Amino acid sequence: APVATGTAHAKAILIGEHAVVYGHPAIALPLIPLRTIARLRTVPGPLSARHGDQRVRVEDLPEAFAPVGVAVTAALAHFGLPGDDLEIELDSDIPPGAGLGASAASAHAIVEAVRVHAGQDLDEEARFELVQTAERVAHGNPSGLDARATRARTPVAFTGGVTSDLHLGGSFSFAVADTGVRSPTRDAVAGVRRFVEAEPDRGSELLERLAELTRAAGRDLGAGRTADLGARLDAAQEALDALGVGHPAIDRLLAAARAAGATGAKLTGAGRGGCVIAVADSPERAAEIVTAMQDAGAVGGWVVTAAGR
Ligand code: MEV
Repeated sequence: APVATGTAHAKAILIGEHAVVYGHPAIALPLIPLRTIARLRTVPGPLSARHGDQRVRVEDLPEAFAPVGVAVTAALAHFGLPGDDLEIELDSDIPPGAGLGASAASAHAIVEAVRVHAGQDLDEEARFELVQTAERVAHGNPSGLDARATRARTPVAFTGGVTSDLHLGGSFSFAVADTGVRSPTRDAVAGVRRFVEAEPDRGSELLERLAELTRAAGRDLGAGRTADLGARLDAAQEALDALGVGHPAIDRLLAAARAAGATGAKLTGAGRGGCVIAVADSPERAAEIVTAMQDAGAVGGWVVTAAGR
């Protein structure tokens, strides 16, 4: 039986990804139904992780799982606990490498399981830093947006490493779907960096454009304007395409979403595959858009709603 468990949820970036890495604002939504559970067990031997049917010492985890080892090791060190005779196991509904924050959610779940095991409190900033330690191994240079949004219970605005609650002037419905194409966040972020270095004027113009669209989207959310919000997403997709993070599989799902009545749609997360997000004028329409995207090849789809408070 586990000695401690921790959970966290997925997130979808509504707008502002990539530009956020350069200090611009972004808006993200929690995807609470998609969860990761971390279970910590006592098993004699060195600190290990359950990997498939195997028990692997955390130092020997394959590269893709290295952040798991980093999260558990950093969290144990934070509480001054030895790692011997412990095993960590993850159970996740969140598709990895799809831009839904799977790695940040895993790190949060692990940190929480270790905190419960330690029987101590952990303030929000220390928690964030532990998750960021794992995210640096997963992504290279994470903005911190995923680490914040996978803890948030409501839509958040993110600027300069800090989140603030967002005022919503009505209910919003979104359709999120997975292209099934996997692309490491690290590579997409590095690709944008190369673009911005090679073409600084065009690069900063596109990043500024994304920042402006994100601020406008925040105002649309505040005023309950679904159609305008959709138009911002469409425009953001054009800027993201120009930065080189588009993909034909993304375009196929966006076309299906728009044909099914989305007011606008774009990629969500790092792009070059991964997931897309569309704005709908009702939860029923969002469900239809999910179905349309699945008919167009999406391997997973979710309706996300967010209501004003
Ligand atoms: C990835 O979910 C979001 C990016 O903006 C990278 C980051 O914020 O670290 C592409």
